[in-house]
Amino acid sequence: MKGIPRDIDPVVRRAARAFPAVVVSGPRRAGKTFLLRHLFPDATYVLMEAPDAVARFRADPEGFLDSLRLPAILDEIQNVPEVFNHIRARIDASPRRVGRWFLTGSQESGLMRGITESMAGRAAILHLAPLSASESPKVDAFSGGFPEVLARPGAASLWFESYIQTYLERDVRGVLAIHDLAVFRRFLSLVSSRHGQILNKTDLAAPLGMSVPGISKWLDVLLVTGQILLVPPYFENLGKRIIKSPKLYLADSGLACHLLGIRSRPELERSPFLGPVFEGLVASEILKSQTNAGHRGELFYFRDQQGLEVDFLVPLRGGGVLLANAKAARSVTPSDAAPMRRLAPAIKKDPIRMCLVHRSPRGGTVSSVVAPGVERIDWRELHVALAD
Ligand SMILES: Nc1ncnc2c1ncn2[C@@H]1O[C@H](COP(=O)(O)OP(=O)(O)OP(=O)(O)O)[C@@H](O)[C@H]1O
Ligand SMILES: [Mg+2]
Repeated sequence: MKGIPRDIDPVVRRAARAFPAVVVSGPRRAGKTFLLRHLFPDATYVLMEAPDAVARFRADPEGFLDSLRLPAILDEIQNVPEVFNHIRARIDASPRRVGRWFLTGSQESGLMRGITESMAGRAAILHLAPLSASESPKVDAFSGGFPEVLARPGAASLWFESYIQTYLERDVRGVLAIHDLAVFRRFLSLVSSRHGQILNKTDLAAPLGMSVPGISKWLDVLLVTGQILLVPPYFENLGKRIIKSPKLYLADSGLACHLLGIRSRPELERSPFLGPVFEGLVASEILKSQTNAGHRGELFYFRDQQGLEVDFLVPLRGGGVLLANAKAARSVTPSDAAPMRRLAPAIKKDPIRMCLVHRSPRGGTVSSVVAPGVERIDWRELHVALAD
């Protein structure tokens, strides 16, 4: 079996040499199972969804785990969350034995939080997002990054449709008592229509006849399962009155296009959503470059009440910060750089880098100065800019 090498591969290998367990989380169909099976083809693989495996585990958890030849990959562990207690006890009995347990599954509200606490120090917890531009040249604003969509672009619409259905049934319904799936579907459309906007829960709740706490729970499930991104405002006391709510994006731009009813690339080019879809693509590329390096995703936006707006502030490893504005248009002008140049002096970080992220006409590597201190970067090259 041949597959697309993932940027996170070396991070997973390193984690396996340092920790007794590695937990891989991430949205459904991102490639978690594929990743672990490819990296560790000799490991025992157990799907904790198969009725016989679950029954054997439940009947005798210790005996079940004793019977496994290690290292072992336990997949779909959300079906048997109690497995963590047993594995934790085993790890504590021989903490120096690394690379023994590989655990993955789908996240449901609360599950991953519990895991993070109970496995602290014992497991590396990594997040696998769908493919990024650095992993596949097929990733773009219209398709997004799910491997199956990129493998069969002609079937994308059907794929997204069944993704939404399966996802509703298996994950969201498992967590929340959603009686009326039609309302949840309308909620998803509404979320997509707010793609790239500052989150306003009242504005989401009202059209659905729901309460704000109800909407918060639904958003929380989408967040925990990696379906949406909430980008918080940059707070560092800038002495300005800034907006406090996060910006909302669907994590996969392909799913965003699907939910927005955009069915082709030309339609996307004509759509009023082109700007937000591209901005969301840039947000997810930035976060992917961070999580694929094994780091926490860390991304902010800036907007003050005078209308000064910078799409992204990205903390850099060395203590500096990258300011970035996303621009879907093919050409960029010095005026596009103005907000970043106005904000930069207020930020007490060094170095401050500034870039305009755009779609270069040739999709190439053109990178040049647009205004003093401001570079333009093709969105496909973002991971390079963030790596150094
Ligand atoms: N690196 C890759 N190269 C090529 N195809 C891939 C790759 N990763 C995943 N795929 C394909 O994408 C699909 C989803 O992958 P996989 O089952 O590993 O996802 P998952 O995150 O485990 O999903 P689930 O949450 O449903 O268990 C599979 O059809 C798989 O073959
Ligand atoms: Mg899987």
